[in-house]
Amino acid sequence: MSAPSVDGFVHRFVPGGAGSAPTLLLLHGTGGNEDDLVPLGSMLDPAAPLLAPRGNVLEHGMPRFFRRIAEGVFDVEDLKRRTLELADFVAAAAARYGFDPARVVAVGYSNGANIAASLLLLRPGALAGAILMRPMVPFEPEGAVAPTLAGVPVLIAAGRLDPVARPEQAAHLEQLLRERGAEVSLHWAEAGHGLERAEIEVARAWLKARADGLHRPPAPPFNEPSASPEASSSSTGSPG
Ligand code: MLT
Repeated sequence: MSAPSVDGFVHRFVPGGAGSAPTLLLLHGTGGNEDDLVPLGSMLDPAAPLLAPRGNVLEHGMPRFFRRIAEGVFDVEDLKRRTLELADFVAAAAARYGFDPARVVAVGYSNGANIAASLLLLRPGALAGAILMRPMVPFEPEGAVAPTLAGVPVLIAAGRLDPVARPEQAAHLEQLLRERGAEVSLHWAEAGHGLERAEIEVARAWLKARADGLHRPPAPPFNEPSASPEASSSSTGSPG
């Protein structure tokens, strides 16, 4: 694992307004960059500080947050390593920019939602909540299930017609997160992989209803699971 550094990711930080809104960690989809989700973050909470890194992996010139072997088949070793790097980046950014590391909410779309889900599973103490838009199961966790995400609110925005992050992936991820104590809201849209405007309103209302109470889960023993590989080196999900 690399030393915690804010310079490990090209990123944007937008300071928040007055008040104590949670910081939104904006994680773009494949081919995106640090600018993509800034307008979405401002729509979700205009007062929130925004931290938007660019994924460090290039796939045919398109930034991503981790490698994949084929469409929907993830390089799980790379995913786990980069998940921990992202967690370290967030901690280092909190120190540099002065936001509260206990009140960070991930907002991820597609590939960004997948690394956010991985962050919840691998480094639960890193996030106080998450909005996962069109996520997949990042990897199958192994070993005993512990309440590592007790009380952590998670919104999954899934598309019933999504051929990439297929509906069964969203349902399975919901189950994995619930087993670990997360308070999961699963919202279905009659949509494909692209987001619909109405879903942004759902996410905005979901965040507003929870923002005041957002705080990361308690300290270890629950929030520092081993970073050792928990699954085989690849994970088969839906194509995309
Ligand atoms: C992924 O690779 O993370 C997912 O298939 C979504 C995508 O980026 O296409």
